[in-house]
Amino acid sequence: MAPNLALVGFMASGKSTVGRICSERLGFAFLDTDKLVEDRSGMSVREVFEQWGEPRFREMETAAVELAAMRDRVVIATGGGAVLLPRNVEALRARCVVVYLSVSPQAVMERTEGDTSRPLLETGSEAARRLGVLLGQRESYYRSAAHAVVDGQSELPAAIAQRVISAYRGVAVRWFDLQGRGT
Ligand code: S3P
Repeated sequence: MAPNLALVGFMASGKSTVGRICSERLGFAFLDTDKLVEDRSGMSVREVFEQWGEPRFREMETAAVELAAMRDRVVIATGGGAVLLPRNVEALRARCVVVYLSVSPQAVMERTEGDTSRPLLETGSEAARRLGVLLGQRESYYRSAAHAVVDGQSELPAAIAQRVISAYRGVAVRWFDLQGRGT
């Protein structure tokens, strides 16, 4: 069985847009862990954060990651904080080729202007600086969770998806060796 494909990366790195294109090209189903949490809770991610708090959101996210990773032939777009928990990374790497879509803080700022759906995105004069700090703190988590890194901002989504698929195939051909070595 071919491994799944999981996309990790910061908010607005294009995981859902690129992931959907990859799923069509690979003939895999597409799953988004934020959407799984929303379906399960009947609330938006923002509402879950506001009403139940971030720790509860993270628990639901772990359940979503584990459920998604156990499926076969899926492309999974993970939430930007999913890789912070080693348990999530383990679940993903056991069954998925994990690709990090990297973007700069400037690109995130541009892409999320006016976005109110993401509770961890701040507004106001300090927003850009804080976003840079958060991305800096997370960068090493994304890199160590991933089998491959793809630039998520220099090309159009279709071209980025092609690079992700090439990276996926490059790792997938070595999949059984990699699993045997526990990498
Ligand atoms: C989060 C990213 C969001 C969502 C939640 C928390 C994060 O997903 O899971 O708002 O901690 O970075 P996207 O990366 O899809 O925006």
